[in-house]
Parts: sequence; structure tokens; C-alpha cells
Amino acid sequence: MTEFKRIGVLTSGGDAPGMNAAVRAVTRSALLCGVEVMGIYGGYQGLMDDDMKLFTSRDVAGIISHGGTILYSARAAEFKTEEGMAKAISVCRKNHIDGLVVIGGDGTFRGATDLSVRGIKTVGIPGTIDNDISSTDYTIGFDTAMNTVIELIDKIRDTCESHARCDVVEVMGRNAGDIAIQTGLATGAVAVAVGELPFDEEAAIERIKKARNNGKRNFIVVVAEGKKNFAEGFTTRIEERTGVESRFTRLGHVQRGGSPTLRDRVTASLMGQFAVDKLFEGQSDIVVCERNSKIVAMNIGFALNVDKMFKNKLTDEDKAKISPEDLRKMEEICLERQAKKMQLYNTARITCV
Ligand code: F6P
Repeated sequence: MTEFKRIGVLTSGGDAPGMNAAVRAVTRSALLCGVEVMGIYGGYQGLMDDDMKLFTSRDVAGIISHGGTILYSARAAEFKTEEGMAKAISVCRKNHIDGLVVIGGDGTFRGATDLSVRGIKTVGIPGTIDNDISSTDYTIGFDTAMNTVIELIDKIRDTCESHARCDVVEVMGRNAGDIAIQTGLATGAVAVAVGELPFDEEAAIERIKKARNNGKRNFIVVVAEGKKNFAEGFTTRIEERTGVESRFTRLGHVQRGGSPTLRDRVTASLMGQFAVDKLFEGQSDIVVCERNSKIVAMNIGFALNVDKMFKNKLTDEDKAKISPEDLRKMEEICLERQAKKMQLYNTARITCV
């Protein structure tokens, strides 16, 4: 057990519903152990700027149901520099912060590792609507964002049915198609196109024509933003090739807001408490992950390499630095993740008409 007097908590990167629930869980779990909690505003930028407040249990009251993040968030370029890092470390020392819980995406975890090697114990919690952190099956905010998407697509479908139209809906996810695949499946989309998997445009057009000839009046196509420069052009081609009047809708940042779902509130709370437990056990440079329904801890370097491997960015040079045992474990995680993604994608395709 490591002795802590005060830890800090911050949220960084794109906000996600459920981040507040994680902040609340971190704060209250630490306070219960007699450890003070500094709420750091504006992510790593706020850390460098010494923008923080000592939290009581009341500071996190009533936030479990709120979207956004009470700690605010930012993407801080300066933090990636040596000067920025030195500033952050000296602010931690000045404020007697000897441990940090950071909630965000992979950029956030890279920052956590840098702090950790400089002596600040850090634990990361995955918070992003994209679910694009390959080491964990789940990231906080994903479920809420998807529920927002399906609610909106259901509304779009109503008007498509009235007017016998097609609507091509672009959803967020950065380079990951997870939101598109699951919401496409859940809304009965006639086609789902994502950047990381091949898409048969011809087959999709033929499906729309055939279904229209069978009397179908509404057509939803879900496209991930990761399929770059595609959705608007595809909308035009659908109309030209099928004769079905078509519209394009980009859902945008509405997907990032709103009251978190039960899944996000519960997962964020479990991860928040787990993060504090691990920190107080003396662990550092780890990220909290959900793997096969269990909350586990993973070394951040390992987790970032899993992510690189999954995204085909792991170079031979990277591989040479990893033990065969770790490479095998990483491959296992990637294969499982890919299998889950393919199962969802295939079910979406099989059940869409
Ligand atoms: O990572 C979350 C996310 O909403 C992505 O889905 C999207 O690509 C990006 O952030 C948008 O970023 P910004 O908030 O800078 O517009």
C-alpha cells in the first residue's frame, strides 16, 4: 500500500457522457480512504496552468446524471513539449499531488505515461464516445452516444417513410467504425460503411433497388466519419442509380452530449473506483480496461501497442522491442476485438433487408 495525501483528477480530449460519473467515483473513493482530491480544470492545459480546486464530496454531488465534464476538457499541444511537461510536474509538486487519475483517450494516456516516468503515479480511464481504444472492449460514453444516434435515426426514418426517401447518416467515431456498425445494426440500416472494412457500393445500390421494388419506402444508410469524403457523394449516387430521392445528414456533436445511460454511469463508476484502488496499491502507468466483462488494469505502453497493432501501425522496429509473450497476448486481444467487430458487421448486413 502506497501512502498518498493528495491525488488529482482530470478529463482530457473530447468529452464523453459518463466522464462526470468517473470523476465522482474517483473523488469519493479517494476521500473515503482519507486522501484529498484536487479537481484539475481543462485537462493537461489546466494542469500546466495550475487551474485546480480541492474537492469535497459535495463538489461531485448531483453530477452522475450530467453529460459533458464538470472539469472541462481540452487538447493541449504544449503538454507534448519538454517545457510543458516540466511545468506540469512542478505544478504537481507545488500542490502536493503525488498521484493522478486521467480520463480520456489514447492521447491522454500517452501524457500519463510521460508523467509516470517522471515520478507522478498515474492511472488512465478510457473516456471517449468512439470506443477506439483497442486494449479495452469499452470506453465511457460509447453507449450514450449510440443511444443518441439511434434515437435520431429512428426520427429520420419516420420522415423517410412518409416521403419514400433514403437518408445517408454520417456518425462520429474518428477513424473507428464502431458507432456506425452498432447503430446501423440497431436501426436496420440498408447499408453500413466504415473506413476500416471494405464496402461493396454496387451491392448496396442493388439492395436498395430490390427492396424498393418489393415495396420498401424508407432507406437508412449509416456511414462512419472515418470513411473519408464518401457520405455526401454516395447520397448523390444512390439517388442517380436507384431513383430514390436521397438526403444527407451529418449528426455531429449532438452525439457527444446528453445524460449518460445506465451502462455509462455504472461502468464509469466501477472504473473510477478501480483506478483509485490500483493507485493506492502502488500501481502506476496503467490504464483501466474492460475485457470480457471484467475490469482489469493494463500497462499503458502495452495498451498503446495493442492499439497500434490493431490499427496496423506496429512497425518491425516496435515489434523488436516487445517480448514474444507480450506479442502473443497482444495478438490475442486484437483477434478477439476483430472477431467481435466482424460479428456485428455481418449481422448488420445479413439482417438489413
Ligand atoms: O473523439 C471524439 C470525437 O467526437 C470524434 O468522434 C470526432 O472525430 C472528434 O472527437 C471531433 O473532435 P472535435 O471535438 O475537436 O470537433
